[in-house]
Amino acid sequence: MRFYLTFDDPQSRARALMLSKKLNIEIFKKPTQQKLKEFSEDYFFTCSKDRLFLKKGLRHDSKPIFSDFDDWTKNYDDNLLKSSTKGLPKNFSCLDLTAGFGKDALEISKVVNCKSLILIEKEAWVFELLVDGIKNTSSCRTGDLLKKFKAFNMDSLKFLKSKNGTFDLVYIDPMFLGVQKSKAKKHMQALRDLSTAVIQKQLLKTSLDFANYRVIVKRHKNMEYLEGIVPDRSVKGKVVRYDIYNTN
Ligand SMILES: C[S@@+](CC[C@H](N)C(=O)[O-])C[C@H]1O[C@@H](n2cnc3c(N)ncnc32)[C@H](O)[C@@H]1O
Repeated sequence: MRFYLTFDDPQSRARALMLSKKLNIEIFKKPTQQKLKEFSEDYFFTCSKDRLFLKKGLRHDSKPIFSDFDDWTKNYDDNLLKSSTKGLPKNFSCLDLTAGFGKDALEISKVVNCKSLILIEKEAWVFELLVDGIKNTSSCRTGDLLKKFKAFNMDSLKFLKSKNGTFDLVYIDPMFLGVQKSKAKKHMQALRDLSTAVIQKQLLKTSLDFANYRVIVKRHKNMEYLEGIVPDRSVKGKVVRYDIYNTN
């Protein structure tokens, strides 16, 4: 599996070259038609006129992977995650230490009581897609939710240790390693395949000192507790589990 940077129209070439340098991803040189199959397991960080997105393989029907906040606002609901925030105060602040594509952060922003979210993502190319997603929305409702977001490209433990204040809720979604790849959705599969960022060992322990009310950790339903720390309670769905640590 290889990772390339590419563009799908001549106007995007300059941006692609700039991003190739910034993200340290090799520019892709187009092969002849018959060689397309050779690239089916490779990822392509693609610049187009309107958007940045990721693609697996070069087939035209390969679906773009990006932070599609308009779609997630309208067509997606994680009621388990939203219910895990029950009882948090009015105007609560949230720190998402593993922002990824921002899908979970968007779910938290849908909770009426949530006033602000800080999103931390260490992997530069993921951060680039996240920011592009935040900038490119068309629905007013999505725009209102995203006004709550502030995103930073940095290591989450470093962010905590630079003492940027406390948060009512801290959210952590470490990668589900050891879970069958075939079962992961395409966004998560791409992160598993390509992200080199590693969750620091003491992230949960440190987060407990920075959360005024609660830390929520997302796990696969059969996984051990993060850092071996037993939560106050868990809410379990068909695939995932949210471990809830009360801190007040
Ligand atoms: C499972 S994904 C999170 C997905 C996210 N909840 C979403 O809804 O899209 C974990 C993310 O944490 C990021 N990450 C891993 N280690 C990190 C670290 N030390 N600091 C900041 N981000 C990190 C990875 O690059 C990856 O994007």
